[in-house]
Amino acid sequence: MNKILVIDDDQSIRETLYNFLKREKYETASAENGEKGLELIKTINPDLVISDIRMPGMSGLEILEKAKEYNPNINFIMITAHDDMQTTVEAMQKGAFDYIEKPLEIDRLRLTIRKALENKKLSDTLEALVEESSVQYELKNVLIGKASVMKGIYKKIGQISNNRVTTLIQGESGTGKELVVKAIHYSGITKNEPFVAVNCTALTESLLESELFGHVKGAFTGSIRDKKGKFELAGEGTLFLDEISEISPNLQIKLLRILQEKEFEKVGGEKPLPMNARIITATNRNLQKLVDEGKFREDLYFRLKVVTIEIPPIRERTDDIPLLVNHFLKKINNELHKNVFKVSDDVMKMLVDHYWVGNVRELENTLMQAVVLSKSDVLEKENVLLRKSDKIHGEFDDITKYSLADVEKNHIKLMLEAVKWNKPLAAKHLGISLPTLYSKIENFKIASG
Ligand SMILES: Nc1ncnc2c1ncn2[C@@H]1O[C@H](COP(=O)(O)OP(=O)(O)OP(=O)(O)O)[C@@H](O)[C@H]1O
Ligand SMILES: [Mg+2]
Repeated sequence: MNKILVIDDDQSIRETLYNFLKREKYETASAENGEKGLELIKTINPDLVISDIRMPGMSGLEILEKAKEYNPNINFIMITAHDDMQTTVEAMQKGAFDYIEKPLEIDRLRLTIRKALENKKLSDTLEALVEESSVQYELKNVLIGKASVMKGIYKKIGQISNNRVTTLIQGESGTGKELVVKAIHYSGITKNEPFVAVNCTALTESLLESELFGHVKGAFTGSIRDKKGKFELAGEGTLFLDEISEISPNLQIKLLRILQEKEFEKVGGEKPLPMNARIITATNRNLQKLVDEGKFREDLYFRLKVVTIEIPPIRERTDDIPLLVNHFLKKINNELHKNVFKVSDDVMKMLVDHYWVGNVRELENTLMQAVVLSKSDVLEKENVLLRKSDKIHGEFDDITKYSLADVEKNHIKLMLEAVKWNKPLAAKHLGISLPTLYSKIENFKIASG
């Protein structure tokens, strides 16, 4: 019978859990603080510990750390309440198996316990890899968001940051993909290693190739000396390939080989060099769809998505919008030496309800503009300039006939016309990246004239 220990200072939670575990036929013990919990860990050697994070005296994270010193294979499920990125990432880095949120949901709990116990069985048979982790990178206030999906993302950041698994990050423009990549790099084993980013749309194919792989002297006209490529520069750190959907078929094959063989060759070079960096790629396009359409290699897609992180648009986590607004107001006021902190319910509701095509980036830009224009300490409604869809709706006689895609297409078309097809400018006003604009023009088949 599996033994489970519950540590929580809250008596009612302790009792609820205790009774639940008994009913589920686990051998169960409980403790109301860290000291007692650790003693029990040493005497009864439980298979799983379920511990609160915030407790007077020893915190859940400290208990976790001490227990792991004693038995590295011990499994922890943390109970989080006022959860933030910091504690979730830290708990995962310190080796917690998972976390569950208060209020406790019984089905979720049952499943998490089952998985933890299965994992324990497996890890008992494997060698534990304990990493030094002294987090210098200030994770606090880097990624804002308490939505469940965001916590899931923090958990993955914690796990990925302690190894070099190839990771694919997907999400609409402005959702924070780059921020997540940096959080991974700077919070774990790579934090003192190089971070190298390449935007795959920025360069022509041949330039991109020599940027990525480097070249030897004389490889082509003008290559007067050896040049290190990004793979080499990234060393044992992270190589971030942004807008990965945009690489040519030829480079797709090369990248696939590198991922398979863990080596790469300089342009014109003879012997392969080892590839030790963690590869993270990001895209705001649907790679699966590109694979289905034959535009992206399936075998490469599988190599890239060993682990995936899907960042949802902010309209799917609207509870986070007020948090983001507060965060950005602090940041912007600080930068501009202003003091615009008052937001009426009315304005907040408007921000929460808005359809943010450009996600967090567009929200931040809108707030920046509003703060600049503001004449008092209030974020004034008339200064919150939302890209109106009224104009578009105005052209539609019956709104129920049009899908979101119709409206999006129409808005992009109007925008392009308004800026005389200056695409970089249109992308800026739309709050999306240039490649995203290109792909939307292509997908929606938008033509000038
Ligand atoms: N959860 C968040 N908390 C705080 N700031 C965020 C968050 N998500 C995004 N941001 C901010 O929003 C802006 C856009 O984020 P980022 O550049 O990471 O987006 P992206 O997904 O890479 O966009 P694109 O696809 O257009 O390249 C940045 O200024 C970033 O700091
Ligand atoms: Mg980006």
